[in-house]
Amino acid sequence: MAVVVRTTVPCATIMPMRVRSVVHSPHVLDFVSHSVAQTIRIGQRLGELLQHGDVVALRGDLGAGKTHLIKGIVQGLGSTDVVNSPSFVLINQYRAGAQRGGMPIYHADLYRIERPAELYGVGLEEALDGDGVCLIEWAERAEALLPDDRLDVHLSHLSETKRVVRFTPCGRRYEALVDTLKKTAFT
Ligand SMILES: Nc1ncnc2c1ncn2[C@@H]1O[C@H](COP(=O)(O)OP(=O)(O)OP(=O)(O)O)[C@@H](O)[C@H]1O
Ligand SMILES: [Mg+2]
Repeated sequence: MAVVVRTTVPCATIMPMRVRSVVHSPHVLDFVSHSVAQTIRIGQRLGELLQHGDVVALRGDLGAGKTHLIKGIVQGLGSTDVVNSPSFVLINQYRAGAQRGGMPIYHADLYRIERPAELYGVGLEEALDGDGVCLIEWAERAEALLPDDRLDVHLSHLSETKRVVRFTPCGRRYEALVDTLKKTAFT
């Protein structure tokens, strides 16, 4: 018999053997974006909630909207810096607004990382340990370096202009964050 486990276990928890599990955390938030503007807006709402030390790991196909979500997050952090996908440097750095203490915002794009060994020396460890917010596109390419506690965000195409944005918190802090996001996302 298949057992459906409904629980709030953190992402890294290993489920017992022989139990076919479908984990539905009540903290997960699915948001359907109907336009670029809506993706940026949900990003802004998220950015308003982020604090120094936070890590957001973004996944999703090419053109799913990761960079546009990050544009919103950076705006929500009060930054006026222009967000572009990092290219040669892999990591861009912006500055949050004065009301957020001008903390650094690191924007990594790991699309070009082909082997885990390439991850070292690009500055990702420093960004993750830094006193700022770390936003990582193609986070699956840095699995070994990602902290257990983080916010996972997955974007997928529904149509040419619609995207599903799934926020999955890992750890208590991010569960509370997503619970707050649920309240502020639609206002
Ligand atoms: N609802 C939507 N949300 C976000 N982007 C959308 C939406 N509808 C259409 N788009 C388009 O999808 C593309 C998303 O581009 P974006 O650079 O944000 O994706 P990405 O996931 O960062 O891609 P990459 O993996 O190449 O970095 C843009 O061309 C944007 O105009
Ligand atoms: Mg991108």
